[in-house]
Amino acid sequence: MKIKVNKHFEDIKETYLFSEIAKRVKAYQEENPDKKIIRMGIGDVTLPLPEAVVKAIKDAASEMGVKETFRGYPPEYGYDFLKEAIAEHYKEIGVDVPAASVYVSDGAKSDLGNIVDILGDNEIIIPDPVYPVYVDSNLMSGHKITLIEGNIDNGFLPLPEQIDHAVEGAVIYLCSPNNPTGAVYSYEGLKAWVDYALKTGSMIIYDSAYEAFVEEEVPHTIYEIEGAGECAIEICSFSKFAGFTGVRCGWTVIPEGLEAEEVRISKLWSRRQATKFNGVSYPVQRAAQKALSPEGKAACRANIAYYKKNASLLAVLLKSKDIKFTGGVNSPYIWLQCPKGMSSWEFFDFLLKEAQIVGTPGEGFGKSGEGFFRLTAFGTYEATKEACERLDKLL
Ligand code: MLT
Repeated sequence: MKIKVNKHFEDIKETYLFSEIAKRVKAYQEENPDKKIIRMGIGDVTLPLPEAVVKAIKDAASEMGVKETFRGYPPEYGYDFLKEAIAEHYKEIGVDVPAASVYVSDGAKSDLGNIVDILGDNEIIIPDPVYPVYVDSNLMSGHKITLIEGNIDNGFLPLPEQIDHAVEGAVIYLCSPNNPTGAVYSYEGLKAWVDYALKTGSMIIYDSAYEAFVEEEVPHTIYEIEGAGECAIEICSFSKFAGFTGVRCGWTVIPEGLEAEEVRISKLWSRRQATKFNGVSYPVQRAAQKALSPEGKAACRANIAYYKKNASLLAVLLKSKDIKFTGGVNSPYIWLQCPKGMSSWEFFDFLLKEAQIVGTPGEGFGKSGEGFFRLTAFGTYEATKEACERLDKLL
């Protein structure tokens, strides 16, 4: 063929992090079929959906099978019943997010990747290490990225004061509770970013996918910070909160007042979604609505408490070994320093071969992640306990 392809794909790693891990684990399992592997790599949930949520899916599916209640294309931005339930969720946190600013989608990952469609060629500021989608999607579009280093000294919570050049009109990605480090911005830390965005005419894209894990006095949403409504969009997900990794539903909030070059950001996103996306299925949106009901929330919180018990098992083990780590309290992730100065992929191979435990090498989240390793608490209690026993012997 004589077509041109997007050359920017040469700037990203050939394989997506979790696909690379899956490939290596598959190869190991094929060579060692008798070994029992414990998977603590990708942050995928293992508990089944709450009963009430399953019932909501079934009821909605039944409605689709009856002439009078059948529905065709869903609204591109979500049914009002779900947008209102999301607005109510924000109200419970103590912030006012109108339902009209909520755009329902098939998950946070899609929105985080797709948002680049509506943005021009801005400087992109991204803390490092972080969820690889921000960097990859911007590299695919040929954008210039400034990485700001997270490290042990700043608790993996980089601040704008680390930026060493003048910035005007940048797009800043923040993720809190952070994937992969589990670190969470305090009100003060997040305020520093909001103030910085307002001062420099920048926009924050705030990924709050792990909000439901917050238990300490730290922000659940960026809109708890004064001024965020004038500079931030927020992207959230039902995946980790309600176990929807296989169901697919999330949302993006774009405050009506956000404007650049005399264009409303919400107008661009509406246009983008209407062109390239046909909405989330009715049964899934009914399920999401149920997850946000008092009954649904109680069941989701019980599941989160289960995962947190796993996280504390891991935390106790690492403390007993004097291994430095962050996370595990307001997050399902534990981010630890690789022992004996191993690189993160060396530690990955070591753990897989010696203990049949799969984790995620920190380097996969950016160069500042080198020398660190992520374990997820999303497994079963029994598997996590067994992993701790294996780690106790090995480390
Ligand atoms: C992770 O393991 O980082 C997440 O599961 C990835 C995702 O949410 O897409």
